[in-house]
Amino acid sequence: MDSLRNIGHIDGQTQLVGIIGSPVAHSLSPEMHNAAFAYMGLNWRYIPLLVRPDQLAAALKGIVALNFRGVNITIPHKVAAIPLMDSVTEAVTVAGAVNTVRIDGSSGRMEGMNTDMTGFLADLAAHKIHLSEGMRVIVLGAGGAARAVGAGLARSGAQITFINRTPEKAAQVVEFLKASWSSAVMTAAPFSELAAHAEGASLIVNTTAVGIWPNADESPWPEHVPFPKNAVVYDTVYRPRHTLLMKQAEKAGLMAVGGLGMLVYQGAAAFEMWTRQKPPIEVMRAACEQRLGD
Ligand code: ATR
Repeated sequence: MDSLRNIGHIDGQTQLVGIIGSPVAHSLSPEMHNAAFAYMGLNWRYIPLLVRPDQLAAALKGIVALNFRGVNITIPHKVAAIPLMDSVTEAVTVAGAVNTVRIDGSSGRMEGMNTDMTGFLADLAAHKIHLSEGMRVIVLGAGGAARAVGAGLARSGAQITFINRTPEKAAQVVEFLKASWSSAVMTAAPFSELAAHAEGASLIVNTTAVGIWPNADESPWPEHVPFPKNAVVYDTVYRPRHTLLMKQAEKAGLMAVGGLGMLVYQGAAAFEMWTRQKPPIEVMRAACEQRLGD
């Protein structure tokens, strides 16, 4: 109750951050960050900001003018935001997307960052899923999330096959990542070749939108393709918590992990960038779980 009262109290000292996207109504980030601010006793608030693509530049100028401390950037702005930044971190260059902006209070300069990649790697580590040189990984999908995940995997020396409904997009992701890791072993393939590529893989990561609520009865993994033995399945989807892909994997005796941890760790990294304080990870996770309903 104390924390709820704290969220309601806004005064002249309140520092603002938020999320720019379209849509943003479904985002868990406001609850996650406001719970963290309340727990830490920080007079900060996080608000959703619905911004159409043609208003992105104006919106970013606006939040600087309004003395925001930073924002998260989500669909569909993660790529378009890059040239609008005053500087970007290496993670933005290698993942090809900005998901967090820090605004310098005195100069108003915007620094673009990417905490999706670090969020993914942090959650793998939290689940004791170790990446190693030459380890074979299947990434399903070739969108923005696939780039962030792929960048994290390529950095660790994993051999990655990107499987996508539109194989040309998977080839583009490989080409893009090769710009940062020219010696990395990466291939692109259509779903029709999944079975051959999956054999011997030790990690499967779903970055497609398949299985996201309300389409919880869908899975990107075709029923007739056997899962590789002893692989771990990581689904970046977190709504529902337990996706059909995870259920398929568990039925085949594999360990399956959902995407909530990645969401929490990317948020935690953004929280730390803005406030320069250690994020209360479990408070952030509990806020998301409460919103998701379990
Ligand atoms: P994000 O930034 O979250 O990765 P995105 O860029 O829109 O989102 O990418 C969505 C991914 O989900 C793509 O790989 C897309 O496949 P296509 O490149 O062929 O469009 C994949 N995807 C979405 N719906 C799908 C479906 N019904 N079946 C298979 N793949 C699907």
